[in-house]
Amino acid sequence: MEQRDVRGHYEELAAEYDEHWVYGPDHIPWMSARIAETLRLTSTDRIADIGSGTGLFAREVAAALRPEHPILCVDPSAAMLEQLGSPPPPGLTPLVASAEDIAEDRVDLPYEQLDAMWLKESVHHLPDPARTLRGLADRLAPGGRLLVVMLPATIQYPLFEAALTRFEELQPDPNDIVGHLRAAGLDAGLGHGEHELRIDKDKYLGMVRARYMSLLSTYTDSEIEKGIEEMRAAHPEPVLVFPDRFAFVLAERRGGKA
Ligand SMILES: C[S@@+](CC[C@H](N)C(=O)[O-])C[C@H]1O[C@@H](n2cnc3c(N)ncnc32)[C@H](O)[C@@H]1O
Repeated sequence: MEQRDVRGHYEELAAEYDEHWVYGPDHIPWMSARIAETLRLTSTDRIADIGSGTGLFAREVAAALRPEHPILCVDPSAAMLEQLGSPPPPGLTPLVASAEDIAEDRVDLPYEQLDAMWLKESVHHLPDPARTLRGLADRLAPGGRLLVVMLPATIQYPLFEAALTRFEELQPDPNDIVGHLRAAGLDAGLGHGEHELRIDKDKYLGMVRARYMSLLSTYTDSEIEKGIEEMRAAHPEPVLVFPDRFAFVLAERRGGKA
């Protein structure tokens, strides 16, 4: 997808985004806890969520962590950030900017360096991930951590076949992300986490119709309807149960406190 199309996709989806992502009561607390523990967040860290969208996860992290410095919620889509509310919740500061703006030092941050940052399901939108991740790595303080949370190269979602194939064509490989972060001078490694999703089939079909994944925006309305028919035929059960598996790429800048 072109950057312009990505922007348009999220501007349209913004108002409904949280509804689509609140798969069930457990998903956001589960993921937010994984982010906080993998990054070893402390309340004194200077933190950014890059490609934060509506701040679903940053909000939960901030509520648990009570950070001394507000978590920066960085996203190029003003419409997504507006969903944070006005004023934003305690412990969060929205910033309309792209990962590239931060990486290339085109925006002033309230913090000279960052102790921790995460990109959750935003890395696939970066046109030049090697360059942008290197720039982001340069914003880390000694001992700083950068976490990329992304879907793996293949997924077991109950989507129609063509969408699963297109996903595999478009999705970056987490191992390549590890390589980019190592090339940027960080220690980096790959882990995985899995969460079982149970979702009412009609709700899920509605999410597909609303193109809840940006990859679904590459299909016309009639292609989506055909895909939905295929999904209905493949899944007669009323509740869809499937693993939501994520790759967690953790990278660290050497030189922090032991
Ligand atoms: C799938 S959403 C994920 C949002 C949030 N991290 C979450 O998990 O709910 C992808 C987000 O990446 C943002 N995005 C797109 N291009 C970006 C870029 N170049 N830099 C940073 N964020 C970007 C979009 O605006 C969107 O909010």
